[in-house]
Amino acid sequence: MKDIEHLLRVAVIFLASITVFLVVRAVVKPESYGKIGRYRAEALDDSKALPVRYAGQKECGPCHKAQVKEKAGSSHSGVSCESCHGALAAHVAAPKGAKPAKPAEAEMRRFCLRCHEASVSKPAKFPVQDGTKHNPDMACGMCHKPHAPKI
Ligand code: HEC
Ligand code: HEC
Ligand code: HEC
Ligand code: HEC
Repeated sequence: MKDIEHLLRVAVIFLASITVFLVVRAVVKPESYGKIGRYRAEALDDSKALPVRYAGQKECGPCHKAQVKEKAGSSHSGVSCESCHGALAAHVAAPKGAKPAKPAEAEMRRFCLRCHEASVSKPAKFPVQDGTKHNPDMACGMCHKPHAPKI
């Protein structure tokens, strides 16, 4: 007996730990955990219940024909309206109520360089500029039209 006493002590600690674990687990485990995978199944309903904040490109057409047309023929055709103007579901529902964001002249350099600042991580063909050297004192919009930027 004396020879295995130290083993018994470890076994008791082990069993006690497992019991504590199982009790705590039973108390804190969300009900829907494990139903469809190793996460809380109700999280999907929670996400679905969030309000939709983006309207989608198609919604802008009827009211902003000029900008849609201008952009469609430019290299910005693949950049969605809302990636520059923000989430606009509220604006589509009530155009006079929720005013979209529009980068002001003072912040335009930072705004455009978010995508166009030179960086080794970008594909070689992506048009980039070194913001400290490319006409540093002027807003990008003075030379490039945001909806059709080619000069
Ligand atoms: C039902 C018509 C309608 C729809 C749909 C609509 N807009 Fe507008 N938008 C307006 C009107 C009207 C104004 C002018 C609001 C004002 O001056 O108070 C405006 C203003 C704007 C402005 C600000 C212009 C400025 O000079 O400040 C931007 C940017 C804009 N819309 C972008 C969008 C985008 C992007 C979409 C698509 C997601 C969109 N709008 C969908 C009617 C619409
Ligand atoms: C690359 C970013 C970018 C994208 C994409 C973009 N816009 Fe703009 N938009 C701007 C900027 C910057 C201005 C402000 C121009 C200025 O004040 O000189 C602007 C201005 C506007 C205005 C105010 C009137 C005008 O022409 O100056 C409207 C309306 C507008 N955008 C609608 C749209 C719609 C609709 C789309 C999608 C078809 C769109 N924009 C896509 C950057 C963008
Ligand atoms: C969300 C990212 C994004 C933002 C913000 C953005 N652009 Fe672009 N821009 C692009 C993409 C994508 C292209 C197309 C690249 C390609 O052809 O591979 C592009 C192309 C261009 C080109 C090349 C035009 C040509 O046809 O050769 C210029 C110049 C340009 N953008 C200027 C601007 C300016 C000025 C602004 C700010 C008003 C701006 N961009 C904001 C993503 C962006
Ligand atoms: C003083 C006018 C001016 C200003 C301000 C300006 N640019 Fe340019 N940009 C040009 C000219 C001119 C070219 C050369 C056009 C060409 O060779 O295709 C050019 C080229 C570019 C190109 C490369 C286009 C390509 O096809 O490779 C990008 C990207 C660009 N500019 C982005 C910007 C951004 C972003 C800003 C603001 C931070 C800005 N520019 C400010 C005049 C300007």
